[in-house]
Amino acid sequence: GAAVEVDISDIKPGEKKTVEWRGKPVWIVRRTPEQLAGLKGIDGQLADPKSERTAYPTPEYAKNEARSIKPEFFVAVGICSHLGCSPSDKFQTGPQPSLPDDWHGGFLCPCHGSTFDLAGRVFKNKPAPDNLEVPPHIYLSDTKILIG
Ligand code: FES
Repeated sequence: GAAVEVDISDIKPGEKKTVEWRGKPVWIVRRTPEQLAGLKGIDGQLADPKSERTAYPTPEYAKNEARSIKPEFFVAVGICSHLGCSPSDKFQTGPQPSLPDDWHGGFLCPCHGSTFDLAGRVFKNKPAPDNLEVPPHIYLSDTKILIG
């Protein structure tokens, strides 16, 4: 499929833009420092904290805690690795009484309750086996990325 060029200059901190790539939704989330801090110290609760599984291989440049090239911007295919529903945003920072476990927010799949952090890493003992897919992408400039 054709690669998709995306202007990321209008995404505000804490917001998400969705584009279509190969018929799939791709999210670009601009994470705040607080949201990035929420990725730390939770490896033990995650099914694949280092993104080593290969069902949806994580590109080498995204095999890090933030699963991204630049920590601020997270690029992921917005499709749950369980049965393909589209998770919804839960972008609050800090522990929330309304959120399950020790989850600090990220994405919640409405179909069977899988929870992902703000790097798309799935929590343990959830129906989804894998982290959200990070599609191949590069930066064309500080404000433009190319997906695919
Ligand atoms: Fe997402 Fe089942 S499709 S938890």
